[in-house]
Amino acid sequence: TKAFSLAVIPGDGIGPEVVAEAVKVLEAATAGGDATFELTEYPLGAEHWLATGETLPEETLEQLRKHDAILFGAVGAAPGDTRIPSGIIEREMLLKLRFSLDHYVNLRPAKLLPGVASPLANPGEVDFVVVREGTEGPYVGNGGALRVGTPHEIATEVSVNTAYGVERVVRDAFRRASVRRKKLTLVHKHNVLVHAGHLWRRTVETVGAEFPDVAVDYLHIDAATIFMVTDPARFDVIVTDNLFGDIITDLAAAITGGIGLAASGNINMDRTAPSMFEPVHGSAPDIAGQQKADPTAAILSVALLLEHLGLADAAARVQKAVEDDVAARGSASRTTAQIGDAISAALAVG
Ligand code: NAD
Ligand code: IPM
Ligand code: MN
Repeated sequence: TKAFSLAVIPGDGIGPEVVAEAVKVLEAATAGGDATFELTEYPLGAEHWLATGETLPEETLEQLRKHDAILFGAVGAAPGDTRIPSGIIEREMLLKLRFSLDHYVNLRPAKLLPGVASPLANPGEVDFVVVREGTEGPYVGNGGALRVGTPHEIATEVSVNTAYGVERVVRDAFRRASVRRKKLTLVHKHNVLVHAGHLWRRTVETVGAEFPDVAVDYLHIDAATIFMVTDPARFDVIVTDNLFGDIITDLAAAITGGIGLAASGNINMDRTAPSMFEPVHGSAPDIAGQQKADPTAAILSVALLLEHLGLADAAARVQKAVEDDVAARGSASRTTAQIGDAISAALAVG
């Protein structure tokens, strides 16, 4: 039996509601004894900031580093909440975690599962993964504002793209493509963002030479949004930068049954720090505290977590239990806990 130490960050809004179900499923999936998990909960997020003024203290970050993995819910206040300046928690807590723990592969699978309704009339076989760069791009906070509040205000957000950072994520995407349908699509905007765009393009060309069996395609981000709606089956692996990847993965979620089903992993492929698994969605203040949130995205994130920790059987069991559950979903609405209970119960039986 392998013993794992797991940090759990429920966060804000629906975060704690969906994480509770994800933990139930984790426990049900490993009850057979191939692994044990010791859980340590960390109260972080917007509510925690309101109560304590803390975002992510260095000491907490150091404690988090000691775990084998992190399960994350969601953080952030309602867009209209004036008690919290927008961006504090997102930047100083969530992005600080992704950057400090070097989560350079932000893996976001998009698969239309059998029985799940897509808003697209003819979706076809949708099964792709977005490999979103997780530590660079416009997210680094390299910018500033001058003459704030005047008619002459100037605000900049400079995207940082390093050869090192682009190469490692591109190589990861090629590796994934080489064990899937062997097709990689670079999504960027090199017709306008020429400096970063050319670095990404050149890197795909160079690294691609190591993977002669992977076909390479390129789409500008604007055209990529067209094809994601008109012909999503064309995609296998998409590699893209941090911001484009954020945007297209909400779209990818929408076409594959909704944001309530979209899982992600913030992965440090070199394993120099724990990876972090979380639903793609946010804290959903509009439905928080009402047991209306779909915990499936958080539960599928547990499957990614198990896979990352080498527990492929347990991961497959969770994936299967979710697939059975979504296939059988009718129009009757269930609470967050009822969905988690049903999936856990299926794991206990089968
Ligand atoms: P959101 O993802 O929280 O919500 C968008 C819409 O999707 C809402 O209508 C919401 O009710 C719905 N939704 C989200 N998750 C759902 C689920 N599991 N089941 C059913 N419906 C679900 O995005 P937003 O409204 O733009 O952001 C709200 C807050 O969350 C902001 O503070 C934002 O910064 C933060 N945020 C955090 C993360 C994260 O922690 N990783 C991700 C995105 C947004
Ligand atoms: C996500 C979120 C985050 C992002 C925000 C909250 C920082 O939208 O995980 O997709 O942009 O990465
Ligand atoms: Mn997002």
